[in-house]
Amino acid sequence: MNKINIKGYGDELSINGLKIGDLSPSEHEKIEKEKGGQNYKPLENVVVSHVKDSSTLICRKPSNDSIKSYIEEELVDGLCCYSAVNQGQLNKEIVDAVVHHLKNEKLPTVPRSIRHKYMSAFLLASTAITEMDKVVPKVAGVESWELTFKLCRRWGYEVKKIPSNQCIIVGAQGNFHGRSVAAVSMSDDPDAKKNFGPFVPGIELVPFNDLEALKNLFEEKGEFIAAYCVEPIQGEAGVIVPDEDYWVNVKALCEKHNILLAMDEVQTGFGRTGANFAHQLYGVKPDLMGCGKAAGGGILPVSFVAGRKDVIDTLTPGSEGSTFGGYPLASVVGTYAIKVLVDKKLADNARIRGAQLISHYEDIMSEFSDKIKEVRGKGLLTAFEMYNETHLDGHKVSVELLNRGIYAKETHHSTVRIAPALTIEAWQIDNIAEQIRSVIKSL
Ligand SMILES: Cc1ncc(COP(=O)(O)O)c(C=O)c1O
Repeated sequence: MNKINIKGYGDELSINGLKIGDLSPSEHEKIEKEKGGQNYKPLENVVVSHVKDSSTLICRKPSNDSIKSYIEEELVDGLCCYSAVNQGQLNKEIVDAVVHHLKNEKLPTVPRSIRHKYMSAFLLASTAITEMDKVVPKVAGVESWELTFKLCRRWGYEVKKIPSNQCIIVGAQGNFHGRSVAAVSMSDDPDAKKNFGPFVPGIELVPFNDLEALKNLFEEKGEFIAAYCVEPIQGEAGVIVPDEDYWVNVKALCEKHNILLAMDEVQTGFGRTGANFAHQLYGVKPDLMGCGKAAGGGILPVSFVAGRKDVIDTLTPGSEGSTFGGYPLASVVGTYAIKVLVDKKLADNARIRGAQLISHYEDIMSEFSDKIKEVRGKGLLTAFEMYNETHLDGHKVSVELLNRGIYAKETHHSTVRIAPALTIEAWQIDNIAEQIRSVIKSL
C-alpha cells in the first residue's frame, strides 16, 4: 500500500509533503482534472479559500507575476451554495452550538437503533417550524425527495388502495430533485439522464404552472395517481414562479381526486423566498414536504421529510433508514438552523432585500431593454433572463461578475440566478446590482 502522510490544518494541510496553501489555481484545477470525476465545470481561475464574513468569501486568483502563485480577493457570495447557506457563512450561533456540543457536551455518534437525547429537540423544532405532524430526518436534499417519492407510493397502495405496482407519481417538466436514479427518472433534462437508464417507471410529467394539463391527467388516471411531487418555485429551471392562484387550484384538484400534494422545498425552504417555506406565500399546505440545504445551517448536510401523520405512519421499522439521518450532530445543527431562521427573522429579511434586488433588476431591464428579457423571483431567490442571443451569454456574465467580485452562476444559457445569504445587508444588495448593471452594459 502507498504510504500516506497527512498533517496540518488550513494552508498547512499537507498530503505527502504537498501543502494545499502552496497550490495555485491552475495547480488545483490540474489535480481536480486528474484525480476527480468531471461531473462539474467550475468557474475557471478561482479557488475559494475561506470566509471573511457571512456574505463574503476570500478567494484565490492567479497572480500576474507567476503561474505558480496567487493573489487573494474578496468575493461576494451571490449563490450561497445553492441556498444551503441561508443563515450566512459560518453563522456564529450555529458554529458555537457545534463547537460547544462537540467539546463540552461530548456529543456522541450513534445510529437510530438506539435513542439519543438530541433527536427529541430536532423533532420538536422541525415539526413546529413546518407546522407538520411528523418529521423523518435524512442527509442530502435528494434523499428527502427520494423518501417523499417512496412515502407517496406507500400511501398510494396502503391508504388510497391503488392496485399493486400500478402507482403513478406526477412531476413537473423542468423539475430538479437531485441526482438519484429515481430523481433523474423524473427529470426531463437529457444531460442528467444520458446512459443512466433504465429508469424508474410510474412517473408522468405535466408542464409546470399548467392547471389544465394537471386536471386532464387527474381526470384520466386519477385513481392510479398517488401524488403530485413538485417544487413550489422551480429553482434549477431558472427560478420559475407560478401564477399566484396556481397552488390553491392545484391543492383543490388534489383534494378532489384524493391525490397527495408533495412539495420539494429543498431550495425554496428556510426563508429563501420571503416566507419560512414557499408554499406559505400561496396560502396552501402540502401533505408532504422535503427540506434540505439550509436545514443544515450551511454547516452540515441535513435534510428531512415533514408531513401528515397518516402518510408518514406508513413507514414501518426496516422500511427506511439512514445512518447519519438525524444523528446527534445533525440534530443539533438542524435545531440551531431553525433557531437562527426564527430568531434572525431571515424570511423577513429575504422579503425586504429581495424586493430591493428585484427593483434594481427592473431598473437595469428598462435601461437595457434590448438585453434583459425578464426578471423573476420571490424573496432572495432571484434571476434575470437575457434574450437568447450569442453575445448575451450567461456564462460570460458569471465570469464578468467574478472579475467584479461577485460569485453567481448561470442556470441556462441566458439566465443568471442570484441567491445571496438571507443575512445580506442593503449596501451589499446595491453593490451586487451595480456590478450586474456594469456587466450588462459591457455585453
Ligand atoms: C429542489 C431541489 N431538490 C433537491 C435537490 C438535491 O439536493 P442535494 O444536492 O443536496 O442532494 C436540489 C439541489 O439543488 C434542489 O434544488
